[in-house]
This record gives sequence, C-alpha cells and structure tokens, in this order.
Amino acid sequence: MTFLVGDNGTGKSTLIEALAVAAGFNAEGGSQSFRFATRATQSSLGDHLALRWGRKPRTGFSLRAESFYNVATEIERLDADPDSPPLLPAYGGVSPHERSHGESFLDLVIHRFGPHGLYLLDEPEAALSVRGCLALVRRIGELVEQGSQFVVATHSPILLAVPNARILQIDVDGTIEQVGYDGAEPVILTRGFLADPARFLHHLFIDNP
Ligand SMILES: Nc1ncnc2c1ncn2[C@@H]1O[C@H](COP(=O)(O)OP(=O)(O)OP(=O)(O)O)[C@@H](O)[C@H]1O
Ligand SMILES: [Mg+2]
Repeated sequence: MTFLVGDNGTGKSTLIEALAVAAGFNAEGGSQSFRFATRATQSSLGDHLALRWGRKPRTGFSLRAESFYNVATEIERLDADPDSPPLLPAYGGVSPHERSHGESFLDLVIHRFGPHGLYLLDEPEAALSVRGCLALVRRIGELVEQGSQFVVATHSPILLAVPNARILQIDVDGTIEQVGYDGAEPVILTRGFLADPARFLHHLFIDNP
C-alpha cells in the first residue's frame, strides 16, 4: 500500500496516470479491457516508465475521481454487447449511473476489486463521506492482506490510516520523502485545524486581510 501525498500541483496525478499507462490500463480509468478516451491529456511519462513486477497482478483497475462518469458509461456500453458475458454483476449489479457517486465507488471497490490485483486510485475520497472513507480503509486493508497492491494519491488523513502503508510525500520542489502517519501533511494540518478552528480562521481572515 503506497500513498502519494503533497500539495496541489506537486505531480501525484501525473505519476498515477503514468503508472496506469505503463501497466497497460486505460489512461482515463478502468482496467486493461477499457479502451475509451474522451480527451487524451496524459503526459508521455508513462511511455518512459519501466515497471518491475514482483508478481504480475491477476487483475487491476485505475481510477481518476473526475473521470468515473466516463468509466460508468463504458461499463454500460460494454454490457450492452449481447455477445459478451454480463459485466454488471462484477460491479454490484446496478449501473454506476444509477447509484450516487460514493455508492458507485464503494460498489466498485467491494465487488469488482479482488485479491492479487493492482489498483491505482486518484483521490478516491472525492466521492466519499467520512464513513465511506472508513469503509474504504477497511476494504483496502482486506485486499492488501489478500495480495493486492494499491498506489493511491490522496489528501485524506483518514485514508492514510490504512495499516502498514508507505506514505511518500512530494514537496513543492519535487523531492519525495517517506514519512510516517504523524508526519504526513494532511494529518498535521487537519489535526491542527480541528484542534482549534478559530485560530486557523483568525489567521486566514484577520492576519491576511
Ligand atoms: N496536461 C497537462 N499539461 C501540462 N501540464 C500539466 C498537465 N496536467 C497537469 N499539469 C501540471 O503538472 C503539475 C502536476 O499536476 P498534477 O495534476 O500531477 O498535480 P497533483 O499533485 O495531482 O495535484 P492535485 O492535488 O491538485 O490533484 C501541475 O503544475 C499542473 O499544472
Ligand atoms: Mg491530482
């Protein structure tokens, strides 16, 4: 379980997307069998990465929060093909378009994700309530125990709590360092804010007029 953390614009999505391309996944999300593209915006970094496998994953999926809508549309399109086996049961039985954003995301992780997979996720918390994030922590922990590997870009201090995760923090100058849970910026800043919201707001509104 590897997390990428860092401020906006430090390159997390670029790296996740490049890993997806190098692993043979669709750049806009999905598995190896997804081939749709609405607009190719990925950098060429993926073409220059060489992945080294301890063990080739049996399955996998990549997901960008902002393109799950297109993944859902592709699932419906693939499922409409009368010559191929039904796809929806693997996604919880209901089209993601007929579920809420968070529900469809949890359907995907609970029903479609499985053992010995490679899962590349970009800000999965975008869809999720706090309770949903905790459900995701539990499911990721379970799948990691079953031999799956995750690389996840996140700003969520809750997701970072997945047991035994490696947290790589990207600085604004591009340096990457491994930090512990208590040293991760989303954890430090959220803790500081929740401990004394008034002090933070005072700083935002009064000290910076
Ligand atoms: N298609 C693109 N072409 C050129 N530059 C881009 C492109 N997409 C992103 N960038 C730039 O690359 C840098 C890294 O972007 P990236 O999306 O990887 O950041 P991020 O760490 O995922 O940020 P966030 O936390 O906001 O999602 C940013 O400075 C961004 O402006
Ligand atoms: Mg990003």
